[in-house]
Amino acid sequence: MKVLVTGGAGYIGSHTCVELLNADYEIAVLDNLSNSSEKALDRVKEITGKNFNFYNYDLLDYEKTDKVFSSEKFDGVIHFAGLKAVGESVQIPLRYYHNNITGTLNLLDIMEKHHVYNIVFSSSATVYGMPEKLPITEEFPLSTTNPYGSTKLMIENILKDLYVSNNRFSVTILRYFNPVGAHESGKIGENPKGIPNNLMPYIQQVAIGKLPQLSVFGNQYPTKDGTGVRDYIHVVDLGIAHVKAIEKKLGETGVHIYNIGTGKGYSVLEIVSAFEKESGKEIKYKICPNRAGDIAACYADASKAKRELGWEAERGLDAMCRDSWNWQSGNPNGYDD
Ligand code: NAD
Ligand code: UFG
Repeated sequence: MKVLVTGGAGYIGSHTCVELLNADYEIAVLDNLSNSSEKALDRVKEITGKNFNFYNYDLLDYEKTDKVFSSEKFDGVIHFAGLKAVGESVQIPLRYYHNNITGTLNLLDIMEKHHVYNIVFSSSATVYGMPEKLPITEEFPLSTTNPYGSTKLMIENILKDLYVSNNRFSVTILRYFNPVGAHESGKIGENPKGIPNNLMPYIQQVAIGKLPQLSVFGNQYPTKDGTGVRDYIHVVDLGIAHVKAIEKKLGETGVHIYNIGTGKGYSVLEIVSAFEKESGKEIKYKICPNRAGDIAACYADASKAKRELGWEAERGLDAMCRDSWNWQSGNPNGYDD
């Protein structure tokens, strides 16, 4: 069984490659390295002791992407490739729409041409917009608040339309909540360029002394301690969810949608104190105004994934913090070390 992983050099992609290889899948990776390093793939090979082809191609390059499908026969595709920074998507929306939408259209067209009908797509809890109640189930109404989120929702709709037009497709849409953590080997992890936007990588950089303190965006939300609450999911559990999705849904035609989270919500201050405990480092912080566009709380009802994929998160907050710190402290400059 062979799977093409687009965006496989990235944070979630590299962890998923490890889990696929450990489960004896053959893989190939296509990535333009716009937000990643080839060294992540060397580390994947080191962790697993297995080899695979890497195509340093851009999905926007139709001819080259087509060539990959001519030279190897795939049973399915896991599609991670895309730009993902919410704030940046507001600044440069056209680049986000072009990269994420046109890249996906090229990929789907080429898949159909080569009779590859199985796809797992990386969607996001961001498609639930401002949820009216919690926990969030897959049936909640969908809306978006920024261009990045809009690309996710548009791609979900494109995939649904594609299935209507050709019911040989098996489409699995995984809506991730907040991925954090790193592989327990400490060899791969999140490697953000510049100052991190997301909470966990920001805390990690405060802990190693690269950043002076964390800005906590708001402490007046209607939550347990006033700070924002999210459903953090260990990236290894997330990688395993993709293997389960391939195992259970490959070849089952239709559109299958799953929330991938733990079902538990933790506040910013709970994350800070769990990280301090696991790392032994003090995380200095100051309370700042709310970040525009943030919601108070967001966590999943992940029971559908348990029922239908036989998947549930196994790693708790301690493991998320411990593995994040293990990666960060062993690789203070990410893959540049
Ligand atoms: P990432 O940036 O680490 O990985 C994405 C990869 O795609 C990168 O390696 C990048 O170089 C590659 N890429 C981007 N555009 C490409 C193109 N046109 N052609 C080829 N390669 C291209 O991000 P990640 O955190 O691993 O996220 C993976 C996917 O999951 C993304 O689609 C993201 O939107 C989605 N997602 C991420 C989160 C999160 O918080 N990390 C949450 C929900 C959904
Ligand atoms: N936060 C801070 N300080 C920071 C960064 C974040 O207090 O420096 C707070 C936020 O206000 C929020 C929580 O930490 O309450 C989590 O913020 P993140 O930026 O880590 O994550 P978000 O929930 O805002 O967004 C993430 C992804 C999006 C995705 C969304 C839903 O970054 O791509 O989850 O899946 F759309």
